[in-house]
Amino acid sequence: MNFHTRKWVKPEDLNPNGTLFGGSLLRWIDEEAAIYAIVQLGNQRVVTKYISEINFVSASRQGEIIELGITATEFGRTSITLQCEVRNKITRKSILTVDKMVFVNLGEDGLPAPHGRTEIKYIQDQFPDSAVE
Ligand SMILES: CC(C)(COP(=O)(O)OP(=O)(O)OC[C@H]1O[C@@H](n2cnc3c(N)ncnc32)[C@H](O)[C@@H]1OP(=O)(O)O)[C@@H](O)C(=O)NCCC(=O)NCCS
Repeated sequence: MNFHTRKWVKPEDLNPNGTLFGGSLLRWIDEEAAIYAIVQLGNQRVVTKYISEINFVSASRQGEIIELGITATEFGRTSITLQCEVRNKITRKSILTVDKMVFVNLGEDGLPAPHGRTEIKYIQDQFPDSAVE
């Protein structure tokens, strides 16, 4: 699983209990997963179709640095299925897991379109000249 994006938990991300608000976390993970799907499928027109159970494993607090991880677990005909985890960057303690997020590849007509992809492509393979950290 690749943990690309880091977030610094700030006051505006908190719920009234002073811990990270679930809605903020879901917004971040949906965007991160959408970007992953766009890159993997080589198409900006992808939509979230399905999100399985979301397990808020542990709370995160203001000032913590967290990281968002995504990996593809299945390539369908028009869909891609992803697995997600959010964890504390320093302690690696798990904060959230989502077993299944399904994104659908759309054509110009807005209907599901075959994407032709069958396996994970790494940035280095897609853009050989790019420097990846
Ligand atoms: C995405 C959308 C076009 C798909 O339409 P649809 O009629 O369900 O399309 P299909 O039945 O052809 O299914 C498309 C793919 O989604 C998969 N799928 C459909 N329903 C699913 C479900 N409940 N769970 C998991 N996968 C599902 C299908 O298996 C298929 O994948 P495959 O081609 O790899 O086998 C339509 O549901 C839609 O527009 N939904 C709203 C999306 C949206 O607004 N998202 C939020 C903002 S991004």
